[in-house]
Parts: sequence; C-alpha cells; structure tokens
Amino acid sequence: MSVPFLPADGVPTLVCEHCGRHFPTSTPRTRCDCDHLVSLLHPRPHLPASALRQRFEARLGVVGGAERSGVWRYRELVFPVTDLRPLTWPEGNTPLLHHPALAVWAGVRRLRIKHEGLNPTGSFKDRGMTVGITQARRVGASAVACASTGNTAASLAAYASAAGLRSVVLLPAGRVAAGKLDQARAYGATILSVGGDFDAALALLTASAERLGLYLLNSINPFRIEGQKTIVLELLQQYRWRPPDWIVFPAGNLGNTAAFGKALREAVALGLIDRPPRLAAVQAAGAAPFAQSFRDGFAHRHRVQAETVATAIRIGNPASYERAVRSIRETDGVVIAVPDEEILEAKRAVDGAGVGCESASAASLAGLRRLVRDGTVDPDQAVAVVLTGHFLKEPSPPGHDGADGLPVVEGVEDLEAILAEGGP
Ligand code: F0G
Repeated sequence: MSVPFLPADGVPTLVCEHCGRHFPTSTPRTRCDCDHLVSLLHPRPHLPASALRQRFEARLGVVGGAERSGVWRYRELVFPVTDLRPLTWPEGNTPLLHHPALAVWAGVRRLRIKHEGLNPTGSFKDRGMTVGITQARRVGASAVACASTGNTAASLAAYASAAGLRSVVLLPAGRVAAGKLDQARAYGATILSVGGDFDAALALLTASAERLGLYLLNSINPFRIEGQKTIVLELLQQYRWRPPDWIVFPAGNLGNTAAFGKALREAVALGLIDRPPRLAAVQAAGAAPFAQSFRDGFAHRHRVQAETVATAIRIGNPASYERAVRSIRETDGVVIAVPDEEILEAKRAVDGAGVGCESASAASLAGLRRLVRDGTVDPDQAVAVVLTGHFLKEPSPPGHDGADGLPVVEGVEDLEAILAEGGP
C-alpha cells in the first residue's frame, strides 16, 4: 500500500487517481481532464496514532458540535480544513450488533453486524451526504443532483432541504422501493424518472450536470467517499482498533468498496491498525459485473444488463470500478455473487432475528454463508457484516399491507381460542 498523505503542513487537495494531476478542493469537478475520477488527498495528521485514537475516543461522549456525528468524529481523516461548517444531522454512531442466531445461520462463531440502516434517513448514504452537502455549500452550489436506485435520493433530498439547496433526483423507471420514493418526495426533491435503468440515469446526469449547474452528488463525488470511509473507521474503533479478519458488504455502484479500501489504506499508513481486514464485496447474481471481473483476475471491466429483486444494487456498469479493484487487491479481498433466492433467505433470517434490513443489505449475510461453505472464510475467523439499509425502506406493495387475511378477533373468547391453537 503506497503512503497516501501530503506533508502535515499541506492543505487537502483533489488528485487524479490515474495521471496524478492535482486540483484545488474549491472545484466542483469529480473527474480529471483525462476522464478518471479524482479523490481527496489529505495532509498527514499532526498527531501520532495513539493520540488520534484518544481524540476519537474522547469525542464519543460529546453532546454538542459536529464531532458528535459518527462522521465528523473522524474529521482529521475526512476533510481537515478550517473554514468548514459541517451540515450534520448528526449521522453515523450505528451499533455493532451481536446476534448469535445470525452467526449460526451464516456458519461463523464470531460475527458482528454493523447496521447502517440506523442512520437518519435509513441508509449508510447519510455518511457520505453530510460531507457532500457540506462541500456543495462550500463551493457555492445552489442545486444538487444524483441518479439513484433510491437511498441516495432520499438522503440527498433530506440533506439538501436542511441546507436550503434545491435537489434533483433521477430514478430508474418503476424500480425504486416505495419507502425511498416517499422520502425523496416528502423531503422536497424534484423527482424525475428515466426511461431506463440506474446506469442510464447516471450516464444522463453525468453528461448534463455541468451544463445545468447541478452539483453532482453520486458516489463518484470524492467527498461522498470521505464520509463513507467512516463506516470502517467507526467499525475499527468499535473493535478497539483490533480489526476483524473480514468485512463483508453488498456492492452495486462500488462507492463503498472504494471508500472502505481508502479508509483501510489510510488507517494502516497512520498506524491506527497494523493490518487491513480482508474485504468481501457481495453482488446479486443478476447484477454482478464486478464479480465477473474478479473471476477473470480483473483482466476485463464487465458491463451487464442488471436484474435483481435487490433493487438498491441493480447496477450493471459500476462507476467506481477502478477504485474498487484497488481496494480488493490491496486487502487481498474477494468479490462474489449470490442468487436472489439466497438474498431473500438471508433477509428472512435477519428480519426473523428482529434486526431487519432491506433486501440489498441481506446480500452481505448471504455472501458470508457462501464464503464459509466454499472454505474462503474459516468458521473461527472474526467477521463484520455491514447491513446498509433499513427494513422500512421496502414496505409491502399497496393492497398487501400485512393486515389482509389476518384472523379477526372480536372478543376475549376469540383471542383465547386462537392463542390456544398456537396461531396465527
Ligand atoms: N446497499 C444499499 C441499501 C444501497 O442503497 C446501495 C447503493 C448499496 C448497498 C451499494 O452500495 O453503490 O456503494 O456499491 N445504492 C445507491 C443508491 C446506488 O442510489 O441509493 P455501492
């Protein structure tokens, strides 16, 4: 892993991941002139690892200010500039759950579940959005936009509204879960449906954002990535900086895969941890171009026509492909695909345990079970699984609100009789 820091007295700068060209952070660009994505390069924090850890620990108890956020707690590693006014909910501070029944289901003895569905708008997207919207204000944007399978749209709409910015979201026709659509609508976004899938929506927006004066807040935005790094930083802190052997998570557009790799690269370079956990990115079998590339040793970038019940990760041409390849290579990671039936089976297990998550999130647990069965993950290894979205994102379709077909009780005798039968 190359050392990814500027000298301690430097100022954060955007750097092209391909040709190395630098740009000031005041630019709204997400790409270099050579068309590759740019990412944020930090000055090395002044503090040694032990003092940094102590500082992060001390902020756990604060009641006011941006540092009570599970994103801005790590501000030295997120966006260390002095003129920043973070727009924070606060977000993050999600629990690391211990659920023996789910460990048994997946086939490992030491499982922890990081539930990112417990963020303010119900998904991990809020971690990137607090940084993205803060930066949008900093560069003087008046309108922000994203293409989305739903969660980014909900998060963007909420944070834009809080910041007093107009928000525009482009959604794939007819394939966004109702909870997400309702959120975006209620939070005041301008919602447009694209006559195609997520990939078409993102291509349209990327081609038109600059011309229309829209600040682009998809995960190709480098500031979103900085916020999403804190899923891993918070997880490492919860593990007392003694990392698990694996971090398993669902992958679609590969923003998280990119962010997790960057977080680990920086954490190792700073001495916060001595080795990175292995990353396991899990895709739905019908939307698995990255898993295909992994199988051929990343010789080819694949694109597919995506189809899966897990609509959040129904993506055929992931935008952060190159960054994600680096993350997998540097952590000796793996990428696998799981069929829809196994995703739904995992979701039933998570829901049944009283934890609950949306379908795409359950891909991670389904993926872990596969990795144990094929011998990649040893049952004795320590594993953290990331659940990315809340159960309530995907309410039952209209007309199937759960009250249909239930036994009706009209009195104590009815109730007693039904319960005595052990039903419903
Ligand atoms: N899980 C959930 C619940 C998601 O909403 C997404 C992505 C992912 C996993 C995959 O993360 O793209 O970083 O690999 N949702 C985006 C959206 C695409 O528009 O809400 P990724």
